[in-house]
Amino acid sequence: MDFEEYKKNNEIELRAVEEKLMEPASTRATLEGYTLYRIKKEIVETLLGEFGNKNEVESAIQLELPPGHVSFDLAFSVFKLGNVVGEKNLKTLVNRVVDILNKDTSSSRQPAEAIGPFVNFKIKDDVLIQSVLGNIKTLGLRYGESDGDEGSGGSSGKVALVEYSSTNIAKPIGVGHMRSTIIGQALANLFEATGFKTVIRHNYLGDWGTQFGKLAYAYELWGNEAMLEKDALRNLKDLYVRFHEEEEKDPALEEKGREYAKRLEDGDQELLELWAHFRRISIGGFKKTFDRLGVHFDTYLGESYFGASEGKDHLVELCLKEGIAQVDSETGAVVVEGLKGGEGKELPTFILRKKDGTTLYLSRDLAALKTRLELWHPDFALIVVGKEQELHFRQLFALAKKLGILQANTMAKHIDFGTVLADGKKMSTRKGSLVELEGLLEESVEKAKSILKKKNPELSDAMLKENAEVIGVGAIIYNDLRQSRERNISFDWERMLNFETGSAAYLQYTAVRIGSILEKVEKGDIYVEKLEPIERSLLIKLSFFPKVVIQASTQFAPHLLSTYLEELAQLFNSFYGLISVKDTKDHNHRRMRIQMISSVRTVIENGLRILNIRVPKKM
Ligand code: ARG
Repeated sequence: MDFEEYKKNNEIELRAVEEKLMEPASTRATLEGYTLYRIKKEIVETLLGEFGNKNEVESAIQLELPPGHVSFDLAFSVFKLGNVVGEKNLKTLVNRVVDILNKDTSSSRQPAEAIGPFVNFKIKDDVLIQSVLGNIKTLGLRYGESDGDEGSGGSSGKVALVEYSSTNIAKPIGVGHMRSTIIGQALANLFEATGFKTVIRHNYLGDWGTQFGKLAYAYELWGNEAMLEKDALRNLKDLYVRFHEEEEKDPALEEKGREYAKRLEDGDQELLELWAHFRRISIGGFKKTFDRLGVHFDTYLGESYFGASEGKDHLVELCLKEGIAQVDSETGAVVVEGLKGGEGKELPTFILRKKDGTTLYLSRDLAALKTRLELWHPDFALIVVGKEQELHFRQLFALAKKLGILQANTMAKHIDFGTVLADGKKMSTRKGSLVELEGLLEESVEKAKSILKKKNPELSDAMLKENAEVIGVGAIIYNDLRQSRERNISFDWERMLNFETGSAAYLQYTAVRIGSILEKVEKGDIYVEKLEPIERSLLIKLSFFPKVVIQASTQFAPHLLSTYLEELAQLFNSFYGLISVKDTKDHNHRRMRIQMISSVRTVIENGLRILNIRVPKKM
């Protein structure tokens, strides 16, 4: 096999992306249909006569939850409205707004009241019930999705390239790549739920570079077929580690390693063959783990595809021609000096091509960015990688802008995240190597199994296995997504598998519990009732779900969704502590409650699905 052939073989993946891009946009629930937006629209329309134009008023009003001690459903500040109409005295303004709103008695609202600069109001009980529960009943699994048009400039019709996971071949997946995989998957799901036309899920494989030449040589020295049959990724990694250790002692080995690396880069057929074999085995191994996580990619085209082979020098030459890069007179390497980054600050000097002509992570990245932008025209190009690569991406994007590869119509962004810690230090095994994702999944599932066994001794073995997998995997995913991604994470198994709070298990348990409550009552319909305060709170909370999904999407912050789901589960649990659905005397009220808790379950499940977490059948 030569490089041409390798590229041809992989073109099928390119076509898969192209086909995805050509698929017509699927229709999504419109934001306008959702309770919160209907209420807001009413308010905007009532105020229009008096204040500014539609767009101004619309963007000036943000419905939010009033603080806990205020017994209203919703509130909004008139602060921005003040700017629109040029009214500085907020007291005068808020009273004027309340007066206007209260004249409209046919609205969905009960009379509004001013508290400070806030307009506060309740929704009429029947509207609240019909609208919120009606939305959820009609949309079911799709409740929460939207055409994502609020304020954000709109995502509808847009293409997002989400590059995540980007695992390195010939070694097991470590915790850093775990985070990228989990966060990227949640973001891609969020984009899909909020109106992007196409979301390209790209695992930009780390499959090229000096180390693979060295690995090929190490394999020639110490390797054999058998080590590729079982535990291939670990064996290959050990092989590389061994080479790395021995080359430090033996300069001849180092020399040979470099020679092989160069030969591979130059397209030596035999080495390519072996490398392609490692690559295939690696993807096979990765896919098994990704399946457990429920993660699927549109393409695995990696550094080798975009950044190596015949085109590899083109961009470097261009940089030289444009005077952006120079040949270092001492070493012969190509370097970029004095390039200005985003804020006009000078970036540290970096190398674009090694002295022996081989490519670098950065030059391959530049080529990959160029090709993808040209082929797929994404509106968003997001790369999910740890914080430690921040400088790399500042350099990459600055260079791409300077060359005109990256233009204003694409928003390219490094989506970073913190590290994984154990006892306050970077997590590693006793031998000092990085902890592997597979091992963590195993550990989590085992722990989930023993908890389940205790809680539910009569579960059959098959059920136990299935549910422990869902709970154990969910615990790992949620541990990553429950707090802002910039923060470091650690593995506190107690909390991760606590059924009572702060975990996926808690949310899963709430959904399962509602399921078993529902089994014992007759299915209800929506009836008008006088609501208890806790019921109002629950319904209002349910109405916020689509908005939270949008916020999590536009802010690249899946944890906003986690926080919301925990709050919803808490509200449900308080409700359930106060009120027995089954024993509700009033027939209509009972039916409403049944419908309501069933809606809570739907929303928890929909939210977890976006985070890529499943719900077990039994817990
Ligand atoms: N494989 C790389 C690593 O493990 C991450 C790739 C991130 N994406 C990129 N376009 N550089 O460090």
